Amino acid sequence: MNDEFPKLPSNCTSMLCKHLSKEMFENLKSKQTANGFTLKNAINSGVENIDSGIGVYAGDEESYTLFSPLFNPIIQEYHDFGKNDTHQSNMNPDNLYAPNPDPDKKYIVSTRIRVGRNINNIPLGSAISKKQRNKVEASIAKALKTLKGELKGDYYPLFGMSKEVQNKLIKDHFLFKEGDRFLAAAGLNRDWPEGRGIYHNHNKTFLVWINEEDQLRIISMQKGGNIKEVFTRLVTAIKSIATKIDFSYSNHLGYITSCPTNLGTAMRASVHIALPKLSKNKLMFHTITKKHHLQIRGVHGEHSKTEGVIYDISNQRRLGVTEIVCVQDMYNGVVELIEAEKKLSK
Ligand code: ADP
Ligand code: ARG
Repeated sequence: MNDEFPKLPSNCTSMLCKHLSKEMFENLKSKQTANGFTLKNAINSGVENIDSGIGVYAGDEESYTLFSPLFNPIIQEYHDFGKNDTHQSNMNPDNLYAPNPDPDKKYIVSTRIRVGRNINNIPLGSAISKKQRNKVEASIAKALKTLKGELKGDYYPLFGMSKEVQNKLIKDHFLFKEGDRFLAAAGLNRDWPEGRGIYHNHNKTFLVWINEEDQLRIISMQKGGNIKEVFTRLVTAIKSIATKIDFSYSNHLGYITSCPTNLGTAMRASVHIALPKLSKNKLMFHTITKKHHLQIRGVHGEHSKTEGVIYDISNQRRLGVTEIVCVQDMYNGVVELIEAEKKLSK
């Protein structure tokens, strides 16, 4: 490997640039995990993409311990989660208080909740081989075939899918985009499009992405603001899939994911919501989202600019809080955003 400390410009604001010191680099640069994943592999995305927010990816569960001097402060800062904390899961829909905050469909366009999952004892996407990835695809597709009722659907591999179908699925918010430069630099787009694909039920309220950033992204979504229905469907699906697939989980870090921002619950619960007035009052908008630990994204997902007045509002914390807290954060914040929007419209 190139032994030189990477060139990181002084105006770089990513967590990688903030936390990687020369001394740390020297201590870690010759280590590698059992899968051959090195510090250089872990940081390459942030080195090549200086505008990263985070800038690091793990190649396997071991990366999080072997390179903990770098990962721990990033995990601490993103999730407010310390190295001696433990993670807890709670997916009981009965514990969620979320009556539809917008029954008249004036603000909430759609609701989506996803989790990331990876298979135990197989390298994550940054370190996986082509053969292993193809095997992962086959075993997940096989497991999904056994789903019943509302979750019943079909698997559509990306390999051989027409551009027309692919682009329509992306435009309609169902499929991951292609060519993400952050993932590419992390080694996550190797052998594209082989081994990747999407499973969905007939009306596309339940979907599974295979071998994108994580081996599985399990997704429940529908029009409108019935958050509890979306959550309940997701939990049913996660539980069914878990009877066939052994997910990678640690008591400390929860579900193991490629990116440290997704650890823990690996859950992102979002609404697409129209906020024409509030979005012009940036101070008020950001005060509410900050209070409820929310992230604002554009309508075409991460790193997209928003179009018009519709925003993607989701929970930011995922580790050290339960799934219920993730969704509750989003729900409580959305209720307050709608109240503020109504007030400003008077
Ligand atoms: P992820 O949710 O997996 O972290 P993205 O932010 O890139 O990744 O979002 C993936 C896709 O899901 C994008 O097309 C985005 O527009 C869509 N999406 C996210 N939230 C919603 C929502 N509440 N309703 C409809 N589509 C959504
Ligand atoms: N690596 C990218 C960055 O640092 C994305 C980080 C969070 N998003 C994600 N999809 N993992 O900006």
